[in-house]
Amino acid sequence: AVERTFLAIKPDGVQRSLVGEIIRRFEAKGFTLVGMKFMKVSRELAEQHYGVHRERPFFQGLVEFITSGPVVAMVWEGDGVIASARKMIGATNPLTAEPGTIRGDYGVNIGRNIIHGSDAPETAQQEVSLWFKEEELASWEPSL
Ligand code: CMP
Repeated sequence: AVERTFLAIKPDGVQRSLVGEIIRRFEAKGFTLVGMKFMKVSRELAEQHYGVHRERPFFQGLVEFITSGPVVAMVWEGDGVIASARKMIGATNPLTAEPGTIRGDYGVNIGRNIIHGSDAPETAQQEVSLWFKEEELASWEPSL
């Protein structure tokens, strides 16, 4: 089924100049970009986005990190894009992420794992609407 997922290139991905490479991978795969913004993340947005991790010991560090510099927030559309993007991103810990995945190829630190991707249809919907207004999204039909 055609789905939408929320992806965010984290401050480490921006700082390491991986923005183009990451977007290239999703474009080349054949998914459709329907929304994108380059932004500093507010503490409120960070706390809402990571709300499920509120009780975890790393929560404060997570919020500090995601608000520490600009991120690239994106919505991608396509058949099965939620699970497929997760596969392309790789395991949460870049040390165990398979080579060929974004985290496997570019990361070594679990807290600085380059990119976030929604993990399931419900969270994808929540995250897309938390980060984007409907009018910031532009659906279009790839003509291939
Ligand atoms: P992300 O996919 O953005 O979702 C939650 C984030 O929490 C995860 O990526 C990691 O960056 C971070 N995280 C998960 N486990 C740990 C941990 N043990 N220590 C630090 N950060 C973590």
